[in-house]
Amino acid sequence: MSENLPALQAQGVRKTFEAENAPVRALRGVDLTVPAGEFAALMGPSGCGKSTLLNLVAGLELADEGTITVAGEDVTGRSEDDLARLRRSHIGIIFQFFNLLEGMTVLENVALPAVIAGRRRRMAETRARDLLDLLGIGDKAAAAPGVLSGGQRQRLAIARALVNEPTLLLADEPTGALDSEGGQEIIELLSRLHSGGQTIVLVTHDAHIAAAAQRIVSMKDGRIAPAGPGSEAPPGPAVPARGASHGPPARTPGSAHSVGG
Ligand SMILES: Nc1ncnc2c1ncn2[C@@H]1O[C@H](COP(=O)(O)OP(=O)(O)O)[C@@H](O)[C@H]1O
Ligand SMILES: [Mg+2]
Repeated sequence: MSENLPALQAQGVRKTFEAENAPVRALRGVDLTVPAGEFAALMGPSGCGKSTLLNLVAGLELADEGTITVAGEDVTGRSEDDLARLRRSHIGIIFQFFNLLEGMTVLENVALPAVIAGRRRRMAETRARDLLDLLGIGDKAAAAPGVLSGGQRQRLAIARALVNEPTLLLADEPTGALDSEGGQEIIELLSRLHSGGQTIVLVTHDAHIAAAAQRIVSMKDGRIAPAGPGSEAPPGPAVPARGASHGPPARTPGSAHSVGG
């Protein structure tokens, strides 16, 4: 994949859900470009379409109109198989609730997507072990996910999302189910991954969390709000001014793989 392609490009994306009474126009023409290496935070009121957008980018749902490309590859208009392949090679996604497989060990949870992608089990488990070490839960490799704390479970989910070295890490309110300390750990971790070159799109409604990102993208009523002077800094008085400059520099060395070592 070319270095100068945007990690994500969405143009004119629309999505309407059929609901009981009236259709819900969740996305009403979204245009968004995320350059490779950027850490963007997507903010906006509940129901404005943030999760819908992330799900479309991840290929978990289909857009009605518009185009979405990830690393230059079209996510729209693909067969299921083709989409699954694209998702495996380009997308890592984490959610508020962690969607872990409780019948498997921590290590197996992380290795599974790599095995599904066709890596040999030993290779997959080596990579999984490296990631668990990197994320500070290497000692939990043989445990069942159920014994982990909330913050540790989210670390596990992040390790799993990274195992196939995705172009794009999508995070939908990843701190929403954690206490403030656990949330802070996850944000520090995402910042660290970003410093290593990982492109990240984070959904949050917490300005303090969003302050870790390089750029804040505001959504409202199914659209991206125009970028104003405030888009580089978190809005509202709740966040100290240092939040604006607290992310790493825009141009980080392009090694998305440095997370492994
Ligand atoms: N599967 C669905 N069926 C019907 N309506 C949905 C569905 N998913 C989302 N919506 C509606 O679409 C709008 C946007 O939802 P969502 O993307 O989840 O918002 P956000 O993540 O910003 O809170 C909301 O009005 C929500 O109720
Ligand atoms: Mg949501």
